[in-house]
Amino acid sequence: MAIEIIATGHYVPEKRVTNDELSWVIDTNDEWIRSHTGIGARHVAADDQATSDLAYNAAVEALRQLSPENPLEAAETLDLIVVCTSSPDFVGFPSVACVVQDKLGLKSTPAFDLIAACTGFVYALDAAAAMIQTGSRKRALVVGADVLTRITDWSDRGTCVLFGDAAGAVILERTDAPSAGPERRGLVQSILHAEGSGANELMCTRGGTRNPFKKGEIVDKTGYLYMNGRAVYTFAVKAFTDMIRELLDADGISIDQVAKIIPHQANERIIQAAAKRLGIEESKFYLNIAQYANTSNATIPVALDECARSGGLTKGDLIMTVGFGGGLTYGGNLIVW
Ligand code: UT7
Repeated sequence: MAIEIIATGHYVPEKRVTNDELSWVIDTNDEWIRSHTGIGARHVAADDQATSDLAYNAAVEALRQLSPENPLEAAETLDLIVVCTSSPDFVGFPSVACVVQDKLGLKSTPAFDLIAACTGFVYALDAAAAMIQTGSRKRALVVGADVLTRITDWSDRGTCVLFGDAAGAVILERTDAPSAGPERRGLVQSILHAEGSGANELMCTRGGTRNPFKKGEIVDKTGYLYMNGRAVYTFAVKAFTDMIRELLDADGISIDQVAKIIPHQANERIIQAAAKRLGIEESKFYLNIAQYANTSNATIPVALDECARSGGLTKGDLIMTVGFGGGLTYGGNLIVW
């Protein structure tokens, strides 16, 4: 029995904002952003779009691969919906997954959100696979979606230039293919880690129960995403490097056997630094940060879908996802495509 990815999809909002356009409203410039991060542009959700709208659109694109004429018909075959997000439509509840379930026209399919910041998709794949493996469920929709531009402080040039909005989705299915041996298929290994001691380095500072908005308070900022960039950068390079080594060791393989690494993309320099430490060619990584910036939970599934649709993956390829982010969290999946 294998847990395979049988379909992928993604969605980015129409509005695209280049670095130059940002420099008209805040004190920044294209040269700084590109040279420090590799970002060239980002997509920004329309005022009437919330995270569930992006998640739904990505889900429909994935379902369309199963049923091109009627993707909502394919939705009826889902046994589980998991959405990972750092920017849900509502604080606490209802979950984005429940909103998506309703939009898909489903009545009782279990649906829940998972929070692991930018490592969310790596965690969600493992969680959904485990729920498929042990229960009576066969098919799961896993979506990574974020509208981080809405919780970003647009007066803080150190963070606001880094993020964009997007959603990516995959459909996981239990199949009869082998999960071990030379013919193995699907998700073969997941490694998850967290370092809660670093929680303060990357956090949403307001709106939760720790620091709620108070009656009569004058709110003078548009967003509450705080990041200690230097500290997170140091953590990210180490986490990223360690995770690739750990996945290779756990499976007893060498990097040459891995066809593609689909990384979380917060800053191209993080990937370059890790690649240098590990002696990995940069071409082994699928990168699209130049177009989308850091889309948090959406980065890996969007990159996976783009890579697959552009012919970058062949059936049987061994691929790796690597995520890191708030929590602090990090992790990776090893998948036979
Ligand atoms: O997905 C979640 C995980 N997140 C990450 O992994 C992000 C990790 N951190 C980073 O990627 C980097 O630390 C940043 C991209 C956030 C910052 O890069 P940096 O090279 O560490 O820059 P810095 O914060 O040390 O700032 C250097 C200079 C400062 O000016 P002074 O003090 O040297 O005069 C900043 O004020 O660059 C200035 N600066 C900017 N200048 C133009 C900071 N942001 C900007 C900007 N435009 N947008």
